[in-house]
Amino acid sequence: KEIAILSVPFDLGAGRRGATEGPSAIIQAGLEQRLQSLGMASEDAGAIRYTATSEIDQASDNLKNLADVIAVNEALSEQVSRVISSGKFPLVLGGDHSIAIGTIAGVAQHYNNLGVIWIDAHSDLNTPETTGSGNIHGMSLRVSLGEGDARLTGIGGAGAKIKPENVVLIGARSLDPGEKAYIKAGNMTCFTMYDVDRKGMSHIMEEAIRIAGNGTDGVHLSFDIDSVDPGEAPGTGTPVQGGLSYREAHLAMEMLGESGIVTSAEFVEVSPAHDSGNKTANLAMELICSLLGERIL
Ligand code: ARG
Ligand code: MN
Ligand code: MN
Ligand code: MN
Repeated sequence: KEIAILSVPFDLGAGRRGATEGPSAIIQAGLEQRLQSLGMASEDAGAIRYTATSEIDQASDNLKNLADVIAVNEALSEQVSRVISSGKFPLVLGGDHSIAIGTIAGVAQHYNNLGVIWIDAHSDLNTPETTGSGNIHGMSLRVSLGEGDARLTGIGGAGAKIKPENVVLIGARSLDPGEKAYIKAGNMTCFTMYDVDRKGMSHIMEEAIRIAGNGTDGVHLSFDIDSVDPGEAPGTGTPVQGGLSYREAHLAMEMLGESGIVTSAEFVEVSPAHDSGNKTANLAMELICSLLGERIL
């Protein structure tokens, strides 16, 4: 299947600037050449265009830069849907994690029961009521579940795009009180770093593939690079110590690739301004290749 690479140079969903340069850094790491050497056809589908708000954002401090987040995600959702209609695999490069709102809204137009594998140090399950930062990249998964501000949940059509029982979180280690309460009360599966340490990544991925693939008609991978330990992935706006090792992250991608269940993917939160060299963008590029079929032997 041909890969369509959609760049989303956007960072107004995050508290620290920098993720706008993520897509170009991942592409400059040699993504297209490496996919080509794997025998995969890819198309650079360009960057999402949207009209930015001109004035300083006056939005409430629990939904920062709301107008821009809505505009970019409406445009992204249309582009993602168009890519799927054309028979291609959407590979979305962020940008901060608020763009999952648009990606999932676009993907969900083509699947009745979409599974989601969300690999992240965080859970991005905040609402305007529970957020401590007001940054919308900390709310995107909850928005996709149909909860939060109606101007966000309405992107790409009203209502929930996914169901909690089809979502698997992997790598969590920094959860806000409201997020913990939601996970504990609901029927979403969350494999924290404790579980990864205790059971091993191989076991976790077998479980994740089983749960996200169970009764679903497609699976979206949302990969936040801050899931990986800051030693390997320093170039991100909200690093958290105690993350996935280099090999755990690759094994997750290799097993997902082998499973054949993934129908769309996004890689987000690479921030070259915080990187050491192009280490983090290069890692993201390699992880994408592992997902799409690159193997050691
Ligand atoms: N939980 C924190 C917040 O809501 C951090 C979220 C970080 N999210 C991310 N996609 N990096 O502000
Ligand atoms: Mn995230
Ligand atoms: Mn994160
Ligand atoms: Mn961030």
